[in-house]
Amino acid sequence: MRARAEAGANIAFIKYWGVRDQRLNLPLNDSVSMTLDVARTITEVEFSPSLSADVLTINGVSASQAALRRVSRHLDLLRERAGVAWRARVASRNTFPMGAGLASSAAAFAALTAAAAGALGVALDGAEMSRVARRGSGSAARSVYGGYVWWHAGTDDASSFAEPLAPPEHWDVRDVVAVVAEEEKKVSSAEGHLLAHTSPFLRARLAQVQRLLPRVREAILRRDLSALGPCIEADALAMHFVMMSSRPPLFYWAPETVALLKAVQVWREAGVAVYFTIDAGPNVHLICEAEDVERVVARVRRLEYVRRVIVAGPGPGVALQETA
Ligand code: PMV
Repeated sequence: MRARAEAGANIAFIKYWGVRDQRLNLPLNDSVSMTLDVARTITEVEFSPSLSADVLTINGVSASQAALRRVSRHLDLLRERAGVAWRARVASRNTFPMGAGLASSAAAFAALTAAAAGALGVALDGAEMSRVARRGSGSAARSVYGGYVWWHAGTDDASSFAEPLAPPEHWDVRDVVAVVAEEEKKVSSAEGHLLAHTSPFLRARLAQVQRLLPRVREAILRRDLSALGPCIEADALAMHFVMMSSRPPLFYWAPETVALLKAVQVWREAGVAVYFTIDAGPNVHLICEAEDVERVVARVRRLEYVRRVIVAGPGPGVALQETA
């Protein structure tokens, strides 16, 4: 009973921040993202009667107890469905740094869901796969699909799942990730979501999200970066203001993050069509169209404080792979 699946990270244009139900990972707002082609996770799951406990390795290294517990809980959801009690060996590999603003948990739980369901012979359609992936990490609900994806917040387990908005071929947008720090973040997004309610700016952000969502949808469908860009910047800033004004406050930014935001302003004034967004970390995602990517990458590489540049485009959704 073995299967392997691959999934991509995603970058949100309208962010998910704050949960209304922690156990089910029901978000406070709808979110919209692009699944990435290069930041991928490949996970193999093998259920076996000879194992007395689940075993988890990430990039070949035995994972922490906390990570193992989270994965075991997720496997339980699928074990229950399949009526199987067997424990599993889970081996996961990432093609990108973990915990630093690239949503590694999204790719991880999308791949884990597909591989575990495949190994157990549980048939899940896209919406069901998205719902189960959501339980592991909210943003994983979106990584089930490729290209441009909309996650309906919903009000309960059944109504909260993602749907494709447009396939990867629809629009060649690039995410140039300017990595300024590769350490794992100190406060996980799972903990951060619980603090959103303590910010006096939460209401204002959620009201803004309602105004931005239809504009983001239209901009994606019309392939209009000049309409999309200001919306994604507004929402990324609003999300970080909620984070910073939570009690206790969450500062994911580094000084280099602010320097990059200012650089983007200068580049735009010089005629380069590039916009920023930032996840729960200090790295800055520079969003542009394929035709401008060389110009953006050249500028980012000139900044001595940028440690690494990752260029991603729209990628496919989760898929099972052949196992030998
Ligand atoms: O899925 P989580 O719990 O890792 O939350 C993701 C949160 C952000 O990356 C900051 C925003 C998003 O929508 O991806």
